[in-house]
Amino acid sequence: MDKLVIKGGKKLKGIVEISGAKNAALPIMAASLLSNGYSNIKNVPFLRDIMTMGRLLANLGAGFHQEKNRVLINTERIRIFEAPYDLVRTMRASILVLGPLLTRYGRAKVSLPGGCAIGARPINLHLSGLEKMGAEIKLESGYVIAKAKKLKGASIYLDIPTVTGTENLMIAATLAKGVTLIENAAKEPEVTDLANALISMGAKIEGAGGSIIRIEGVHELKPLDYRVIPDRIEAGTFMTIAGITCSDITLKGCSPEHLDATVFKLKEAGIIFESAPEGLRVIGKTRPHSTNVTTMPYPGFPTDMQAQFMALMSISDGTSIIRENIFENRFMHVAELRRMGADISVEGGTATVKGVERLKGAPLMATDLRASASLVVAALSAKGETVIHRIYHLDRGYEKMEEKLKKIGAEIKRVKE
Ligand code: EPU
Repeated sequence: MDKLVIKGGKKLKGIVEISGAKNAALPIMAASLLSNGYSNIKNVPFLRDIMTMGRLLANLGAGFHQEKNRVLINTERIRIFEAPYDLVRTMRASILVLGPLLTRYGRAKVSLPGGCAIGARPINLHLSGLEKMGAEIKLESGYVIAKAKKLKGASIYLDIPTVTGTENLMIAATLAKGVTLIENAAKEPEVTDLANALISMGAKIEGAGGSIIRIEGVHELKPLDYRVIPDRIEAGTFMTIAGITCSDITLKGCSPEHLDATVFKLKEAGIIFESAPEGLRVIGKTRPHSTNVTTMPYPGFPTDMQAQFMALMSISDGTSIIRENIFENRFMHVAELRRMGADISVEGGTATVKGVERLKGAPLMATDLRASASLVVAALSAKGETVIHRIYHLDRGYEKMEEKLKKIGAEIKRVKE
């Protein structure tokens, strides 16, 4: 297990290249199962979660090869229709193979993802949507076992606009007979990117990015040749780093239009944004101003940015109220930030953050992906040395984070434990 050692307090300057979006690449990789042949997916980050999806596809019989940021998947020899517990327990997004396997092969057995550090995270809406499309589903010994001769188009209303639920159902509907309407669909840019990838395979999809998605089933789809969108959460994380360290960082290759709420809130905190020839320049000039955030489905403020924003607010010039509305247990970073001297109290889904002058380095434990990112954000501005243990969480979702930080002047090193 590796740990990160960070000496805080350095001003950073330079260009950071934003990687492809993990949460767009994962469903697009799963969608390759809809076709027969070689899919070529570009701008895929080199990350543990991508490797896990690759292993899962290989386990089904696919050929999988990642060459830098390009992934090649050959789906000519799919012969197993099962996502085993050992893979699903390491990555919940494995559930994304359920829709494609069921719609193309008529059967799938996928381990039921358990709860995780941030919440219970049920998949009832994925399953009830597939049942509406005619699937027979039973739960047996911790597995979802699904069968369907041919899925049929249906009208599906999602009680909650679930991201991977919308993705699973949209994928399943591409090869179903007739028209599927997904109402109260998730509007996240990763859902739109998946829809664009499916359309490039020959799918008929309208309305992705809005709350009603219409999918007209087709007989077959061709393999992918597609480039994944940039990672908006990685970009947002580097924006908070610029703010908390009073630095001048230019983000190359990010899509600011996917980050409206985050940029709006960071501007309220006093961070300056300028467009530059190389990309988006983000400048922190003063101690951040306190401001409140409430996490909401897109286009609201993303839950995946809440922890990093809290790190920024922990040294703000006032009191900030942070409400988490998406996951019931997404404040695991609070205890660690407190160890650095942050003044944060939590009641239910609301955290009250009273800004302190400065955080101090401390030994810390990473607990989940975005919590780990918030600890890196905090450590970069803290006085003295911070050691972050269990950074395998960070490696699931941030490509070459310490290399990117070193390049702009951070004192950060990875140490084997
Ligand atoms: N929910 C249900 N029933 C369902 C599905 C979801 O009650 O059938 C609830 C969840 O428990 C949660 C809410 O709905 O309270 C929203 O969950 P959602 O299904 O939208 O989350 P997800 O699809 O499991 C994706 C991202 C997460 C991100 C969330 C919210 C991927 C692979 N994961 O998860 O990313 O936080 O959407 O935007 O796309 C991360 O990258 O760190 C991460 C956790």
